[in-house]
Amino acid sequence: MIEHRDGTFYLQTAHTSYWFTVTEHGHLEHIHYGPRLAIQDPSALRWSRVARGGSTVAYVPEDVRYSLDTLPLEFSGIGQGDYRTSPCEIRIPHVGYDLDLVHTGHAIHAGTLSARTLPTAHGSPSEATTLVVDLVDERAGIAVALHYTVFAAADVITRRVVVRNTGAAEVVVEKLLSFQLDLPEATLGDAPRLITLDGAWIAETHAHDRPLGPGFSGVSSSTGSSSNRHNPGFLLAATDAGEDHGRVHGFNLVYTGNHHSSVERGATGLLRVAGGINPQGFSWPLSPGEEFETPEAVLAFADTGFNGLSERMHRFVNDHVLPPRFRRTPRPIVYNSWEAISFDVSERRLLKQARRAADLGMELFVIDDGWFAGRKDDTAGLGDYTVDATKFPRGLDPLVAKLAKLGLQAGIWVEPEMVNEDSDLYRAHPEWALRIPGKPPRPGRQQHVLDLCNPDVCDYLVDSVGALLDAHDFRYVKWDMNRHLADAHSPHVRAPGMTAHQYVVNLHDVLRRIFEPRPHVLLETCSSGGNRFDLAMLSHSAMIWASDDTDPIERLEIQQGLSYLYPLSTISAHVSNAPHQQTLRDTPLSTRFNVACFGVLGYEYDLELLSSEERKEVREQIAFYRAHRDLFQYGRFRRHRKPHPDRFVWQVDDGERTIVGNFQRRITAAPAPDLLPVVGLEPGTTYRVRSKPQRLMIDRFGDLINHVTPVRLDPRGMVLSTAAKFTSLTDAAEEYVGTGALLAQGIRLHHQFSGTEYHPGIRMLGDHGSTLYVVERLEEGP
Ligand code: GLA
Repeated sequence: MIEHRDGTFYLQTAHTSYWFTVTEHGHLEHIHYGPRLAIQDPSALRWSRVARGGSTVAYVPEDVRYSLDTLPLEFSGIGQGDYRTSPCEIRIPHVGYDLDLVHTGHAIHAGTLSARTLPTAHGSPSEATTLVVDLVDERAGIAVALHYTVFAAADVITRRVVVRNTGAAEVVVEKLLSFQLDLPEATLGDAPRLITLDGAWIAETHAHDRPLGPGFSGVSSSTGSSSNRHNPGFLLAATDAGEDHGRVHGFNLVYTGNHHSSVERGATGLLRVAGGINPQGFSWPLSPGEEFETPEAVLAFADTGFNGLSERMHRFVNDHVLPPRFRRTPRPIVYNSWEAISFDVSERRLLKQARRAADLGMELFVIDDGWFAGRKDDTAGLGDYTVDATKFPRGLDPLVAKLAKLGLQAGIWVEPEMVNEDSDLYRAHPEWALRIPGKPPRPGRQQHVLDLCNPDVCDYLVDSVGALLDAHDFRYVKWDMNRHLADAHSPHVRAPGMTAHQYVVNLHDVLRRIFEPRPHVLLETCSSGGNRFDLAMLSHSAMIWASDDTDPIERLEIQQGLSYLYPLSTISAHVSNAPHQQTLRDTPLSTRFNVACFGVLGYEYDLELLSSEERKEVREQIAFYRAHRDLFQYGRFRRHRKPHPDRFVWQVDDGERTIVGNFQRRITAAPAPDLLPVVGLEPGTTYRVRSKPQRLMIDRFGDLINHVTPVRLDPRGMVLSTAAKFTSLTDAAEEYVGTGALLAQGIRLHHQFSGTEYHPGIRMLGDHGSTLYVVERLEEGP
């Protein structure tokens, strides 16, 4: 997996190669990151240096053709003639910023090497190999260790950096990124593309794809978290790359805090990609002998398009990022009380929902916000995790016991990093909230952020959440965090620029201390939805609540964006009521399920209000999901090229079974026939493709229903609304047969309703309609 030969390092995964070499002056020259190549003399791939570059500065007077500005480098110093962005700025007393990092040695270790302060990916010696390359600037008194871990079968390479002050005086790290990669631009065509996942609250991780312009492009966050504005993960793609072809690089960070990644397109023919902790507001003093380590960066490459890249990232996250205790385990179908009951929880109200949830086949019942003392709304209670005696006079245990009798596991919501001013904790310890000295802290969602740099605060969280979990038989925790950091000042760090990062380091320590000793507790994290959807949170949890937006039409963008880098087993997705709480959009129950099932399914609405037809529909949805759960959570997920901006096609398969989802955001009048490609099947084997049966609720048709009923009905009258509760139409039952080779051409789906007639073969999609197609093997090919 890692070979060192004649000064060159060869990092080999199953399908990719990553090579770099030590130059005659001791710098690390990047050679290749792309398709796997046999190990050989790499000279033909090295950057030419036969001519002196114009406007360049020579590294040494006796070798004027050696300029660091025109070399592809593994990790640049600063002030040595490389004018591209530097991954490190370390302020050295009496010198300022001058760092010349040259190679002194290396070591290769079997397996992964854990970081001291931050979560990192894990892998056994048979799965991973780690290379540590040492670089030193003796005059500055700085040693840098570049860590590379090769996950051969997963086709992923991770990188991180450890810096050590080997001098006699304090230095200050003002910027230290996790990686730098100088890629020859031409390997990505004449217009390389950057794809980022951006958004806002209830509109997270929308994928944006644009050609790289000259200069800097990139993403960052300064919210104290990985943020809903720009996810730390991004992709670089060749001009002509598509879902199933072309070269794509993927990058992500195992980090929950302020991040910064950039791609710099200069005139040298090289793209400099770099990423790590956001240097804005960051500074970290290092006394002699002290070390600082960066978060781990995750790098993957595929020449099989975006889907190929996603498959590698998905496998890596499932097998090497998620805690081993959640590795490939089935995630339960959750009922969550939030959208139905909000803060107004009580044993009676929850039990009413629980009875329905159990009856419909759900498996785990989550008591969301509102259960603890004083929590009448979002102005009070955060900080005090004792049960509200007015809502639960007998405590939570009788409820948990009744849930168990119904066959439901119990789960609980907490938001431990936060405090309301109206809480016993704040009254006792106002100094525990982050604040700028002399200024009142600024509220966000009526709450303040606890100072996790303070070890007493961390102990309080570990003890109070630990006690809650030990006192009740909870099998699940939803760990929420509902605001951004501001006033990021703590008296418990040596310098103000340390607060945001130390907060994150301590948060991970708190999560580790609470959850590692309690492996029976499934952890789902959340931050106003997807404000902290990142690999570091996933190193503790099984899944993340992807968005407070449960409208399936919005979720199409959100979940599709996440799917570039995160596996479906981590994407928590619930069916909720319509019109939607977040958008007022009305969508069919079938579509709400059809989107949520491409992820970890749950339900989050008032089950008492379901009509008998809706109950039948939900029961069947759950049975269907249970039958195909491993496929929806761990199957290979593929995005099909969008045939139209308003259509999404998703596929999951595992070699045996295949399910394809066809989603229509908006109907266009007189639609052309839709094609539905089914890919990845054996070309000569014959398959049957059938639509999953689903109900068309008749009240959706309003006055139009009179076209098919023998008597005239008032669309707003009692008869129709009563009938709609107990009867429904079946959506078009479609069936297609063909070999794998034929189906890959694109099934010509039945015609959609287009105003001319209705009969049972017509697909009734309209706006927001969708269908799941289940592929079944009929007979082996010759
Ligand atoms: C956040 C979460 C929601 C819910 C509420 C409770 O907004 O994202 O799912 O838990 O908090 O206050």
